[in-house]
Amino acid sequence: MDALNAILSRRSIRKYTAQPVSEEMVRELLEAAMAAPSAGNEQPWHFVVMDDREILDAIPRFHPYSRMLEEAPMAILVCGDLELQKYEGYWVQDCSAATENLLIAAQAKGLGAVWLGVYPIEERVAGFRNLLGVPDHVIPFALISK
Ligand SMILES: Cc1cc2nc3c(=O)[nH]c(=O)nc-3n(C[C@H](O)[C@H](O)[C@H](O)COP(=O)(O)O)c2cc1C
Repeated sequence: MDALNAILSRRSIRKYTAQPVSEEMVRELLEAAMAAPSAGNEQPWHFVVMDDREILDAIPRFHPYSRMLEEAPMAILVCGDLELQKYEGYWVQDCSAATENLLIAAQAKGLGAVWLGVYPIEERVAGFRNLLGVPDHVIPFALISK
């Protein structure tokens, strides 16, 4: 699928098959995310790949619009690292670009996915900090369910 087709045909998908996403596919999605532009090429992102059933099931307890995770085989949390910033505040735009790249790559690969907003909702940010032990300088930004 070419880039324009992937962009124009992408839709938020909230129902999934149980088929696991292969490691190779996950790698391709992460490569696409990390190919995003960032301010001064600061690349202030980290990605947490989650496929543990207990972890996925815990998320809807603090994120009210994420019930599709109960059926999702995996999700990827995009985080911004304040210590990697060269230009203060741009981490939000950098991480948005990475998140969108990941969604477009998923579409191109025939995977259904949806962007679940995390930052700046304090309850959701704190929920991920507690669940995953995310340090203070790293901010849970967006979750992609697939
Ligand atoms: C910042 C952001 C936060 C979002 N948060 C959620 C969410 O928490 N739960 C959800 O089901 N969809 C969420 N979405 C998906 C939107 O609802 C969806 O993109 C929008 O309705 C347009 O539909 P489409 O993606 O199919 O074009 C979010 C999208 C963005 C960009």
